Amino acid sequence: MSSLEIRKIPFDFEGAPFIWNPEQPRFSVLMNQVGFLAIGFERYICKAFREAESRITDKRILTEAGLFREQEGLHASAHTKHAKALIKQHPGLQRALDRVLESYDQLYEKHSLDYHLAYTGGLEAIFTPFFKMVLDNRAVLFSGGDRRVTSLLLWHFCEEIEHRSSALMVYDHVVGNSWYRFKNARGFQAHTRWLAEMLTEEFRQNVPNVPSEAYEGDPFASVPRWDKYRSAMGILSSQLPWHDPAHQAIPNYYQEWVDQWAEGDDVTQIYGQHAS
Ligand SMILES: [Fe+2]
Ligand SMILES: [Fe+2]
Repeated sequence: MSSLEIRKIPFDFEGAPFIWNPEQPRFSVLMNQVGFLAIGFERYICKAFREAESRITDKRILTEAGLFREQEGLHASAHTKHAKALIKQHPGLQRALDRVLESYDQLYEKHSLDYHLAYTGGLEAIFTPFFKMVLDNRAVLFSGGDRRVTSLLLWHFCEEIEHRSSALMVYDHVVGNSWYRFKNARGFQAHTRWLAEMLTEEFRQNVPNVPSEAYEGDPFASVPRWDKYRSAMGILSSQLPWHDPAHQAIPNYYQEWVDQWAEGDDVTQIYGQHAS
């Protein structure tokens, strides 16, 4: 049985500031990039995984694929809500969102389903070592942030940890060629890097009064060097053909978040500062 849970969470981001954590402006911008990018990427995942279902012959994997797709669909909707709240304040940001969506639509047209499943499996594999570093350092990265936005990100990252095996499980079943994924990994990363750079430019042009340090330097400057090193090593090894996300170290916060959810806590306001 799959361990993925579908959680419909009524987030509200009305008036949330672009720099949602004034103590971490560089990290705030990075997370805004992640959010805009996630909308395109997760819509792309949903399209590919819907198409892949007819090629899945194992019932257990079909169930996992469906739940995975549903989680990603909910992430995309929540980030869209956040993006819309930012666009309301800075209308020029609509173009940033449109460009992300257009780029993923083009990628979908240009490549095969095998490619899309490899892209998804490859990128999703990166998330566990990356988000472990982020969640382990939540005190420094999130505690000064607007709690509506921090709660969105913490929920999303916890569910990425939860479904860390899903995309590769589907890829291995439907395509099954690990070297194909390995061979294309640089291309997947080049695409997301291009999107991140495009978003930086769009943000710079369309959001006034953002301090220059929000666009410069290391977003993880306040994170211990060892954590960054471990995360970087984890990201590198996540792309290897024999990588299995099931064996990854996961952050303690994942269980903490799930317990709070199970107890009925308001996960739209779970961490950070109340809106001023
Ligand atoms: Fe997601
Ligand atoms: Fe995911």
